[in-house]
Amino acid sequence: MELKINGKSYQVASDAETPLLWVIRDELGMTGTKYGCGLAQCGACSVLVDGVAMRSCVLPAQGVVGRNITTIEAIEADEVGQRVVQAWVKQQVPQCGYCQSGQVVAATALLKQTARPTDEQIVAAMVNLCRCGTYNAIHDAVHELSATAAPAAGGKKA
Ligand code: FES
Ligand code: FES
Repeated sequence: MELKINGKSYQVASDAETPLLWVIRDELGMTGTKYGCGLAQCGACSVLVDGVAMRSCVLPAQGVVGRNITTIEAIEADEVGQRVVQAWVKQQVPQCGYCQSGQVVAATALLKQTARPTDEQIVAAMVNLCRCGTYNAIHDAVHELSATAAPAAGGKKA
């Protein structure tokens, strides 16, 4: 299989049904994407697939052939991802850090879809688990990103 990850093409030898998470971590050695539950519950393994956050622990590799996959390693190459990382640093969001790759990916996906989410939209979208309880800091960071985003083209509220 050929997978497009972080702007590069990789020939991978894993079985077609292997979850993308293990291809990324074990075969390709990109360990920024984390394993939490393996059951699509926690979001630690989130990556962007064509700009949408997906839980790579339950995503067969074959299902993302031909799609653009972005992992935390390249999130700052994305303009929105770069803003998210900066906000995370400013708000000092991470505690142990384990869940934070997935949190940053989830925030990037939200803000790519909706540049100025309301607090309700932030709460609805930011559902990844954090054992350290960084939820308030995450909310504050995304809220600030929403408040400082450029208005959508044509003055339409996103
Ligand atoms: S490891 Fe994928 S959702 Fe928890
Ligand atoms: S920062 Fe520790 S699990 Fe979220």
